[in-house]
Amino acid sequence: MTQEKAKLELRGNVYEIPVIEGTEKEVGLDISQLRRQSGAVTLDYGFVNTASCASSITYLDGEEGILRHRGYPIEELAEKLNFVEVAYLLVNGTIPTAEEKEEWSTLLNRHSLIHEDMRHFFYYYPEQAHPMAILSAMVVSLSTFYPELSQHRPDEPEEHINKAAARLISKLRTIAAFSYKKSVGQPFVYPRHDLSYCANFLNMMFSSPIHPYEMKPEIIKAMNTLLILHADHEQNCSTSTVRLVGSARVNLYASVASGICALWGPLHGGANQMVIEMLENILRDGGNISKTIDKAKSKDSEFRLYGFGHRVYKSYDPRAKIIKKACKEVLQATGTQDPLLDVAMELEEAALQDDYFVERGLYPNVDFYSGIIYQAIGIPKEMFTVMFALGRLPGWIAQWKEAREDDNFKIQRPRQIYVGPTLCHVDDSLR
Ligand code: ACO
Repeated sequence: MTQEKAKLELRGNVYEIPVIEGTEKEVGLDISQLRRQSGAVTLDYGFVNTASCASSITYLDGEEGILRHRGYPIEELAEKLNFVEVAYLLVNGTIPTAEEKEEWSTLLNRHSLIHEDMRHFFYYYPEQAHPMAILSAMVVSLSTFYPELSQHRPDEPEEHINKAAARLISKLRTIAAFSYKKSVGQPFVYPRHDLSYCANFLNMMFSSPIHPYEMKPEIIKAMNTLLILHADHEQNCSTSTVRLVGSARVNLYASVASGICALWGPLHGGANQMVIEMLENILRDGGNISKTIDKAKSKDSEFRLYGFGHRVYKSYDPRAKIIKKACKEVLQATGTQDPLLDVAMELEEAALQDDYFVERGLYPNVDFYSGIIYQAIGIPKEMFTVMFALGRLPGWIAQWKEAREDDNFKIQRPRQIYVGPTLCHVDDSLR
């Protein structure tokens, strides 16, 4: 908090509002006492101007295209660390030492299996079940198998929380792979201790009793990069959901399950599936880019250019830059000729030259190129948002932990401006 005060004049009274400044000089007005002092509330549709918390996990400057976790630039993290190290950084606050990394990996390995009874759950979903629905149901079900964290206790030992964090990070990967195996009618492949996090996932996804999966280092690297780039993004829709649900003192598993549901939406994490469907439609339509751009601009249609635009970024999303480069590398390494990449690049170029997109600061976001990499790896499009959830999980956990430990902790409960009918009474003669 600074000594500075902003002033609000309302109906003849002046109210002083404390000014708060973040470590990167972001300025905020602390209106926590506003209603008590003045009787007024603020109205901010979509929370465009509202900070819901003070956080030390992720710094994002949308105008400059900067993204840092715990102070480290995303570009450095993607280049020098693997996903397991970034997960540790987010959850624990520091890059792990060699010893901490060893302990963290052992913990992840130890918790990679799911209870055998949970395995049976997969069999009873209909064939067309979306894997995001299965993922969220499985995650909330974990709370019934690991009840030591299913009831929130304010004095929960740190050790329990860290164990639950490792358990979730490790098991989500197993659940994701099992849901894929169920969808293709193949037997489940169990996790292996000798494989790294991403290699283990790919093996569980693509190995079968008759075909062992052939590991390619380029693919493992690309998957690490993708998961790192999705690992946290401050107070986005799903993370805010995790924090909001967690603020009712709900356990970690249930809070994360609600975040998975929020992520599923096509305006959020579900956009990666929509991007590929949009690119496929363009290709089917003979590569008609301008028709798609016109449709996205039209106010008569709900259609948007998926993978474009962002609430916070008004310049190029730094993650999209890294993904675009990784995309070309993966296609080269796998020898894939994907015409969708050409369509995507053409679409990007056309949109970036179009006044509509320029005036509104609409650039490709993290979802624009990620699907092309997933396709090259062999991951079906219904699983794209599941991949996003795998990546985002350490961020959700870190944010849930931070909120829980916050000295200013409060259950999250926004106000509203009531615009319905004023008092009226039941007219007995009309009944
Ligand atoms: N295509 C066409 N027009 C767009 C797009 C788009 N992708 N994105 C924004 N706009 C337009 C809006 O229609 C609006 O125009 P107007 O001022 O004439 O009314 C203007 O740009 C501002 O857009 P808002 O919807 O107000 O921006 P907001 O911050 O609320 O939405 C969002 C951000 C939801 C990401 C939006 O850009 C969008 O729908 N993008 C497509 C879906 C997508 O890719 N989502 C993934 C985002 S990244 C993530 O969550 C992981």
